[in-house]
Amino acid sequence: MKEAPHVLILAAGKGKRMKSRLPKVLHPVLFRSMIHHVLDLATSMPHSSVSVVVGHGSEQVREHCSGYSNVNFIEQKKQLGTADAVNSARDHLGGSHGDVLVLSGDVILLSRATLNDLLTVHSSKRAMATLLTGILPQPRGYGRILREERGEMVGIREEVDCSDSERKIQEVNAGVYLFKIQDLFRALDGIENENKQGEFYLTDVIEVFSKAGGGIGTVCLNDPMEMTGINDRYALSKVESHLQRQVNRDLMMGGVTLQRPSSVRVDPRSRIDQDVLIEPNVQIINSVIDSDVVIEQGCRIVNSAIAKGTTVKQGSYINESLVGANCQVGPYAHFRPGTRLENDVKIGNFVEVKKSLIREGAKASHLSYIGDADIGKGSNLGCGFITCNFDGGPKKHRTQIGDGVFVGSDSQVVAPVSLGKGSYVASGTTVTEDVPDGALVISRGRQIIKEGYGDKIRARQNNAKQKDK
Ligand code: UD1
Ligand code: CA
Repeated sequence: MKEAPHVLILAAGKGKRMKSRLPKVLHPVLFRSMIHHVLDLATSMPHSSVSVVVGHGSEQVREHCSGYSNVNFIEQKKQLGTADAVNSARDHLGGSHGDVLVLSGDVILLSRATLNDLLTVHSSKRAMATLLTGILPQPRGYGRILREERGEMVGIREEVDCSDSERKIQEVNAGVYLFKIQDLFRALDGIENENKQGEFYLTDVIEVFSKAGGGIGTVCLNDPMEMTGINDRYALSKVESHLQRQVNRDLMMGGVTLQRPSSVRVDPRSRIDQDVLIEPNVQIINSVIDSDVVIEQGCRIVNSAIAKGTTVKQGSYINESLVGANCQVGPYAHFRPGTRLENDVKIGNFVEVKKSLIREGAKASHLSYIGDADIGKGSNLGCGFITCNFDGGPKKHRTQIGDGVFVGSDSQVVAPVSLGKGSYVASGTTVTEDVPDGALVISRGRQIIKEGYGDKIRARQNNAKQKDK
């Protein structure tokens, strides 16, 4: 069997047209950077190696991609053009006799099927180069495919260098190529930068191959959207909408109801089970949602998992948390990293939870902060409950609340502290010391009644008003 190709991703350019301090390939598209989208595709294909050519913001790009093991980074010192970018991989690839698949860091919608077509044509035609093209009614910005009368490809002309008639050509270069490595580097030796941009164009090697009679394969895309290069933020938004429609269509086909899908943004890594209902304006990022979950409008769920039958009400934000089955969350709940709810838990409106375990059947229905706490089974935390977990610095302390505890409204616990199982906290209490199992704790001023005192005050106020007149 033929050796799998090496993959080279060009990502060193500044991306001037983005008008951004952030390197272009780090801009997110549906919550995932362009370069991660391309690396996901590249690493999912059979390959001999995967390399990224970095240059502009290279430290940042390398750091951002550090989660991918077995990806090489190749430094392009000066961004002199795409030919120079490929040339910078000469030390790495020059000794190989196989093929190289060249991808762009800004072309993220490519499918695996398309790349497989490219591989098939390349090997059946025994071509020196095989490239991906598309027909665009408005080909603006792309290199045009030049063919002679019989249709054989003879070169690529960048738009700025086109004559008026060449500019009208609608078949364009996708910037995705398969090359025989030895032929490629030989051709690159002769590339010059005599063009309007003064850049070394990778596209110029096609003319070299054509003259050498090397055979050039092309695969023309059925859906030219796949080749969209993200050069500016307008293109970014178009690519993102396209990806969003694809992801949403797959979800709906898989049995998920999306209300107003154009407003629902789910990144491609998330898994959502059937009979989930998602209302408008919801964002779900890298999360797993089990069946029969309802996510009401305006929720954002990030790096989290939600189990079967749970309802997340309007406006809740769930981040790095695990939510059990049949829970009620929100409206307007905020789960920060490390929150874990067992089954049948109720967390109501305006409750913030962080690094806490809430055991089965426990409730905090209104206006609370639960940080660094373990809340026992079936315990009930009243309105306005607060864990005072922070001692002003540097430490955070934990609160332990046993099973079946009842905490009255407007109570605070000053951590570290524990409430024994079955204990009661009277409303308005500040708990500063551990409470034994089954005890009642109360810490508030005793109520005093002064009969008739209200009338007295009112009379005094009325007198004062009379005098003022
Ligand atoms: C390129 C092609 C054009 C094609 C289009 C498809 C050339 C000369 N032109 O144009 O024919 O239609 O892609 O999207 O190749 N890069 C480097 N180092 C550099 C310059 C660029 O690594 O010195 C990288 C960029 O980061 C980018 C990719 O190469 O990921 C393409 O560069 P870009 O400037 O976007 O080329 P286009 O003008 O889009
Ligand atoms: Ca581009």
